[in-house]
Amino acid sequence: MKILRKNNGTFEILALPGDTEIERGEYIAAVEGDKALILEVIDVEYADIPGILEDLLRELTLQKASMSLYDPHGVSSITFSIRESKIVVAKLRTVVWRDGVRFNSLWIPSRFSSKIQRIPTSEVLRHVRGEPQIPIEIGDSFGEPITIDAADLDNSLTIVTGRKGTGKSHSVKVLLYELVRHGCYALVFDINGEYCGLGHAKEGESNEIAEKVMVARPCVDFKVGLETMGMDVIMDILEHVFATPQNSIREFARLWEYLERNGKLTIEGLLGEVRRAHMNEAVRDALMSRLHVILGSGFIVDGDYDPIFHLFNSREDGLLVVVDLSRLRPMVRRMVVEYVLSAITKHLSENSIPPLFLVSEEAHLYVGETYWEDIVTRMRHLGISPIFVTNQPDSIPELIYRQADNLLLFNFVNENDLEALSKFSHVDSETVKRVAPSLELGQALIVGNIVGNIPILVKIKDVNAKVLGRTKRFFKSVEQKV
Ligand SMILES: Nc1ncnc2c1ncn2[C@@H]1O[C@H](COP(=O)(O)OP(=O)(O)OP(=O)(O)O)[C@@H](O)[C@H]1O
Ligand SMILES: [Mg+2]
Repeated sequence: MKILRKNNGTFEILALPGDTEIERGEYIAAVEGDKALILEVIDVEYADIPGILEDLLRELTLQKASMSLYDPHGVSSITFSIRESKIVVAKLRTVVWRDGVRFNSLWIPSRFSSKIQRIPTSEVLRHVRGEPQIPIEIGDSFGEPITIDAADLDNSLTIVTGRKGTGKSHSVKVLLYELVRHGCYALVFDINGEYCGLGHAKEGESNEIAEKVMVARPCVDFKVGLETMGMDVIMDILEHVFATPQNSIREFARLWEYLERNGKLTIEGLLGEVRRAHMNEAVRDALMSRLHVILGSGFIVDGDYDPIFHLFNSREDGLLVVVDLSRLRPMVRRMVVEYVLSAITKHLSENSIPPLFLVSEEAHLYVGETYWEDIVTRMRHLGISPIFVTNQPDSIPELIYRQADNLLLFNFVNENDLEALSKFSHVDSETVKRVAPSLELGQALIVGNIVGNIPILVKIKDVNAKVLGRTKRFFKSVEQKV
């Protein structure tokens, strides 16, 4: 192979027929002396050879006449190679010098004497990132195991996106499994009830993290005390989740304070006071209907029980709390999320729970607009590492793409979806647009800090946990395709 031309960061490499069995996402190095250009293959195209049209027409005519070419000097194989040559399109990722990597070096090798060879992705990773401190294996890239550093995931914002059924949740399960195994803490908003099986091995017995997985079912075994929840959180819920008018919220605050002063703060007390107190009937109706849903959901109980504090302080060697939102009505679901987020923020700012990973799938379904910014700015500084999972990349606000540190991109073909991803600043949109449509089930293009800021293609490994939340099908024997 020889370098043909360079256009900004894109290299075109001339390759003869035998050299083109190369896959999208593979790495090649153009080596000269003690320096090497590290390139990632994103496409293979036909070479533009002068006279190719005439050659093709001659071939067609000969085929039609069933004639073979007279070739006394045996030059046909050379001509064959030339006209079958291809162009490998590759993106410049980094330059490796003897003393390390340089991302902004202007060095380019000689087109004639440089040697182009394949290079395993794991070796590229070693160059750009060094050896991971807390290695976790997540899968393989063209047969080579790929490990990422758990420390790089810590305090970073990760987006996992891809078309429906392409392996997004599976990859998050692998990450959570490994993180929790290494003693990290995490909380998942589980909208499909599919993370509940992470503590069970495939065969049904328990796995390595069995004791560290706690499934919290809101209104069943996950409840919060009215006093713990506090007036502010209930007022936020009234305002953001139930769109309560301001005058009703003010009235509620007045009643709460009155009951608290008299030591009568209970669910019955609150409802009774709203029923009895002297107030405008419209305000009373607005409050009564909403408080019935909030207080009657079974999520809030009398007293000062603090489930988040108890859960996260129940183990010292890591924990995964799965908040099962699958059986809740939309309003109750948003209320639970609002409480959990505020409780986590409060405890983290008081240092009373350890820093944690927060996984939210299709968060736009239950996280209000106001919380997005909060999660990625304020909560992040307190020690939350958010992982957002979605199959609608345009549902994630631009701010989040701009702040994101890592992206796990699964298959996408739709142009609008791919366009939304170009807001993510760690990768050029050409790579995304060429690579994403060809990704297979369970294969992801990973970009960002966790892979030393060079995009790599990884086939995510399997995990020894029960897979729940699989879509129920009528034709059970039909294999799923991407
Ligand atoms: N790397 C993998 N190895 C083995 N099985 C996998 C892998 N990735 C995905 N699968 C399987 O493929 C199916 C779909 O995966 P998954 O549920 O993770 O997709 P998804 O992208 O989260 O889909 P949805 O958008 O519907 O939530 C699951 O049954 C899962 O077990
Ligand atoms: Mg999923």
